[in-house]
Amino acid sequence: MAETVMAAINRRAFIGGTIGGIVAAGLGVPIALSLQSAPTSTGNLLTSRIPLPEPFRRRLTVPPVLAPVRTDASTDHYLVRQQITRSEIIPGTMTELWTYGGSFPGPTIESRRGRSVIVTHVNELPVPTVVHLHGGRTPAKSDGYPIDFVLPSDMTYYNQQLAHRDHASAGHSAMTAGGDVSEGERTYVYPLEQRAATLWYHDHRMDFTGPSVWRGLAGFHLHRDDEEDALDLPRGARELPLMIVDRSFAADGSLLYPSSDPTLVHEPGVMGDYIAGVLGDVMLVNGMPWPEARVDGVHHRLRLLNASNARRLSLRLDPAPRGGIMQIGTDGGLLDAPLTHDHLVLAPAQRLDVVVDFGGYPPGTVVTLRNDYGNGRMGEVMRFVVGDAVEDSFTMPDRLSSVATAAETESIATRAFHFRAGDIGERHGWLIGGQPFGADEIAATVAAGSLEVWELFADFHHPVHLHGASFQVLQRGSEGPGAFDFGWKDTIDLQPGEQARIAVRFDTNPGKYVFHCHNLEHEDMAMMANILIR
Ligand code: C2O
Ligand code: CU
Ligand code: CU
Repeated sequence: MAETVMAAINRRAFIGGTIGGIVAAGLGVPIALSLQSAPTSTGNLLTSRIPLPEPFRRRLTVPPVLAPVRTDASTDHYLVRQQITRSEIIPGTMTELWTYGGSFPGPTIESRRGRSVIVTHVNELPVPTVVHLHGGRTPAKSDGYPIDFVLPSDMTYYNQQLAHRDHASAGHSAMTAGGDVSEGERTYVYPLEQRAATLWYHDHRMDFTGPSVWRGLAGFHLHRDDEEDALDLPRGARELPLMIVDRSFAADGSLLYPSSDPTLVHEPGVMGDYIAGVLGDVMLVNGMPWPEARVDGVHHRLRLLNASNARRLSLRLDPAPRGGIMQIGTDGGLLDAPLTHDHLVLAPAQRLDVVVDFGGYPPGTVVTLRNDYGNGRMGEVMRFVVGDAVEDSFTMPDRLSSVATAAETESIATRAFHFRAGDIGERHGWLIGGQPFGADEIAATVAAGSLEVWELFADFHHPVHLHGASFQVLQRGSEGPGAFDFGWKDTIDLQPGEQARIAVRFDTNPGKYVFHCHNLEHEDMAMMANILIR
């Protein structure tokens, strides 16, 4: 789809009526330019400098489940070393990665409701890191506030970089002082008093989350409970966590990313063409380019996570499965009742938990997972090759859980937030309510346990994520919730020019948390704000 800039602008102006406002603000050119080829995502394609690998050559693997170093009556204790690894992602080429425990994705942490998890992260990387458990109801101290740095255990590189601050930041990284800094390692405590859900953990360092996650700092955390177990969902080899990301590769096989400051120490954000977001041209599932999975002809549970920096996905199985794609869960765990879809839209950071009946295909069928929002090679994600039908006792329950509807009448406050492009000093960036992120600026002071209605307005695509809270979508524009909005969410896929209303439950302990756009380039370029829970 070789859409011209003007066509993209016209189309967006038609859809959202917002481009005019941005042009008027003097910001139209760079952002419009960066939208040229992908109107289904806000971002610009970064073309790899190596030939792309053949699809479907690699056998899909699932990240290893991390073994605890110690368990006691109430808690499982884990140790993760954040380290540089070289891995053969593209056949014949070694790629340097920043990893949790030496693999990308990082090892999966599995937990059960009623037991807490304590993870000690040791930072063996060259720069500070911050770990966030996305979707976790975590005390503020362990939530990975962006300036709560874990300093490198070897400070050589970081100190050298800090010593020459000649191109000192014009951005907002000056605000990194004052965090709760730890040296070399940090122990994060996760009570996990919450429903079963597909959570994930990733880096959240102030100003540099985009490049850190791009280099590999992301992993699954699967949280389970008795309610979910009772449903007898497909498990073991029939439960596949699938982390989908787009990436681009440099000529030497390293990951290509257009950082303004390649040292990843001073200047936040990306170069001008990419300020709307970085879109890769290689699709990775669990770290493998366009893999192939052999599956038995039986129901499978797919836990889908879009861990891309900016790319939105519209997923579909081709040919379509018998009974459709049955959605059982979302960001915050099980739905009330299953929903049937023919495709799934997934914005960055969102999860969808689905069941697919591979038993409905004749043995030998090749089923492609397509991405209808991708052009060319990005139109495919992976494929499944269906084996023989095997004994299958799974039947989809009519009811999965009981999800009480968040009643607007319980709301004790209504707030509005605009997510828009804007200027930060001399640079272009992204703002919430006209403001760039400031660690000391509180955008909302809320009561622990309370419910509020938030109205969110977007100029472009903004996958808005709240820490310390979960929400239900009440309304999009003048309509009700969208097809993928049901259940408890932590990230909403806001469309260009859209207004949405969400009912937010602040179900975490008091403390300071962030909310932000999960387009990681937007986040790094200041589209983040603070919630103070009291
Ligand atoms: Cu997935 Cu604030 O992050
Ligand atoms: Cu989060
Ligand atoms: Cu955004």
